[in-house]
Amino acid sequence: MSTGRIDEHAVPKALAPRERTSFDADWLFHLGDVEAGQTQALDVCRWRKLDLPHDWSIEGPIAEGNPSGAAGGFYPGGIGWYRKQFIAPAARAGKKVAIEFDGVYWHSDVWINGHHLGHRPSGYVSLQYDLTDHLNIGGPNVLAVRVDNSRQPNSRWYTGSGIYRHVWMNVTGRVRLARWSPCITTPQVSGGAATLAVSSTVCNETGAAAAVTLRSTVLDGSGRAVAAAESGDSILAGRNHRFEQSLTVAGPALWGPDAPNLYTLRSEVLSEGKLIDAVDTTVGIRGVVFDANRGLLLSGQPVKMRGVCEHHDGGCVGAAVPDAVIARRLGILKEMGCNAIRTAHNPPSPVLLDMCDRMGFLVIDECFDEWKVPKKPHGYATLFNEWWRRDIDDWIHRDRNHPCVILWSLGNEIREQYSQAGIEIARELIEAIARLDPTRPATCGCNWLDDEKVWIAPEFDVIGINGGGGGCFQYENFHRDNPGWKLYASEVPHTLQTRGVYQTVSHYRDKDPRGGILQTPNLAEPEVFDGVDPNYRSAYDNAYVRTNCRNSWAATKKHDFLAGEFRWSGFDYLGESLGWPRRCWNFGIIDLCGFPKDSYYFYQSQWTAEPMVHILPHWTWPGKEGVRIPVVAYSNCEEVELLLNGRSLGRKPIAGVMDLTWLVPYEPGTLRAVAYKAGRPVAEKQYTTAGPPAGIRLTSDRQTIAADGKDVVHVTVEIVDAAGNLVPHADDRVRFEVSGPGRIIGADNGDPLDLEPTKADNRKAFFGMCLAIVQSAARAGTIRIAASSPSLPGDEVLISTSHQA
Ligand code: GAL
Repeated sequence: MSTGRIDEHAVPKALAPRERTSFDADWLFHLGDVEAGQTQALDVCRWRKLDLPHDWSIEGPIAEGNPSGAAGGFYPGGIGWYRKQFIAPAARAGKKVAIEFDGVYWHSDVWINGHHLGHRPSGYVSLQYDLTDHLNIGGPNVLAVRVDNSRQPNSRWYTGSGIYRHVWMNVTGRVRLARWSPCITTPQVSGGAATLAVSSTVCNETGAAAAVTLRSTVLDGSGRAVAAAESGDSILAGRNHRFEQSLTVAGPALWGPDAPNLYTLRSEVLSEGKLIDAVDTTVGIRGVVFDANRGLLLSGQPVKMRGVCEHHDGGCVGAAVPDAVIARRLGILKEMGCNAIRTAHNPPSPVLLDMCDRMGFLVIDECFDEWKVPKKPHGYATLFNEWWRRDIDDWIHRDRNHPCVILWSLGNEIREQYSQAGIEIARELIEAIARLDPTRPATCGCNWLDDEKVWIAPEFDVIGINGGGGGCFQYENFHRDNPGWKLYASEVPHTLQTRGVYQTVSHYRDKDPRGGILQTPNLAEPEVFDGVDPNYRSAYDNAYVRTNCRNSWAATKKHDFLAGEFRWSGFDYLGESLGWPRRCWNFGIIDLCGFPKDSYYFYQSQWTAEPMVHILPHWTWPGKEGVRIPVVAYSNCEEVELLLNGRSLGRKPIAGVMDLTWLVPYEPGTLRAVAYKAGRPVAEKQYTTAGPPAGIRLTSDRQTIAADGKDVVHVTVEIVDAAGNLVPHADDRVRFEVSGPGRIIGADNGDPLDLEPTKADNRKAFFGMCLAIVQSAARAGTIRIAASSPSLPGDEVLISTSHQA
């Protein structure tokens, strides 16, 4: 899997003389409330030292009595305090100093040197406070943050608790570009030329008028200036001035998922011939148009969105997700052929958007899961009236320069959607975002019930259909009855699958297999695979809510008017576990560790061109000799041949179907699929029946990582037999030992029922596999990661950490 580390983030990027420095290191943390925890002289010697991002919920313990309940994965909430002491150097005198939080969950209060800077409930938008007037220049300062996640449940999914994203210190002069400036749009885009409209606000916070020049330069991917504009004006003391500039880039390299070409807009503020502020902003040149008949047109070309919905946690690290974990996850999606992400159901981290710009993902940036009518007793509905305008304002300002963002989603299955009250709220919200960004359409993920129309749907420029539209697959009806509607499938299909689990009898709506309505023929009756824990779901693409992956994509693919499909979900996510004793559920086609389930390869077969074939299930079924096991193949080639122990079981064409199935009487040995194109073998996959566990195999996603205390390596554990085959039923406990400049920050196996802490140095294998995430220290060297198990010989990997990586 490609997992290139992307460490430049947080657009815009500060250039000298502006400073933007990470403020993640060296915080103190206390779990529980503290009387006057902001007081400078407080005794903090017992507080825990840590670096951000940090999420105390993931530290557990998971307990049935935790009030977050099934929605929160039974993780704890509560109140926590953070403090950081720092020296403000003398050079800060006369400067503007601000502290910026990329995300704090939630209800945060921030103090500097005992002075209260503000309270902010939102758990997902970025917050900034001006410290300037309260700093002790040349001496020590104390920043204190109280985070209150005690009122539970307040979300339908796992949120995490604490300062779970990055923190920045921003230092500028008194004459400077305003926060979120410049704002860049691309009103005209073609292969011949593109116009960039650049709107930049310069503030003069001095006591005298300032004559300033704003120089904006577009740099191409190699750093060459390709367009420039210069404007000048005198700004009165204490006033702001907005500069509007237009720049033309000839023969632009356009941005899109297959070629995420980027430019940089360098904004420089000069006064009396001196550079006094500068910012680099990433720019992607693309046009976004949704068409009622042709779907999404990206710079004039139809692009079908092959999407996934994603929550924000990173599995075993909880909500405090290192950048390199996000990069690996996006790499895994990219290899599946995914080109679009819906950030269910909250604003994402700036890091995610920055990576989506660079790696080429179309993003539906979503804000709310609730408006005024609650889904959870302490959820956003309790805040909506007071905070929606401010939260929308901060959200759009922060994200509007990202070329990856193509739609603003104002909600998901909002309870008011079937009412006139909902229409009124929708109109207000749509108007608010149109004022902040007139270039992108507004949308909402709507769910039709069989007997209820969605009143708010027509209010949106582009309509997201969750679940296929009530009764599923209402696309043709919607299009016929409302020819002006611009449509996409915002959340479908909802399928469940557990890595390594197979059952042949189909489930519908997650009911008892025999009691539910069977929508697809069973693969084989009676059930071939007995003894499956009822908490797990079959990975045959036969456990689903309304429809399976294959039928859903077939319907989306068929209709040009449908701009794409966002499946629920890409990765498994914590929470929404639907009951004790589960910490999560199994909607992902990739598990919590990032290990693909079989349906991942179904999408790869539909969404990529590089020849591939995948077969399921694995081929280790002792005791099933002679039983007819359905073997399913997914491939993007023309034909697939299945061979058992060298004997051909037939070669079948794929034209017109989404998968191929053979009923194969089980015998141990090697099951091999060979895919053909133009009669020639171009891809293959095989499983060999595994013997008993005989060893551990470790593989890492990277050999060298940055020695910066942030970067991570993912180490995959496989329990193997004497011949090196994965033992698919193995559940041995594996202990990790890390030495050198690194430490383990999480271990997991993807099992929804495994409630042991993931902040641990050991984990049981689940269906033969588990994972450790190891983070570098800030010194270069070699990390040795060893894995052992009481009854098996161990293995180790060596990872270099370097200041150059
Ligand atoms: C949808 C909802 C998602 C998730 C999913 C699970 O209705 O929008 O957030 O809850 O159901 O099936």
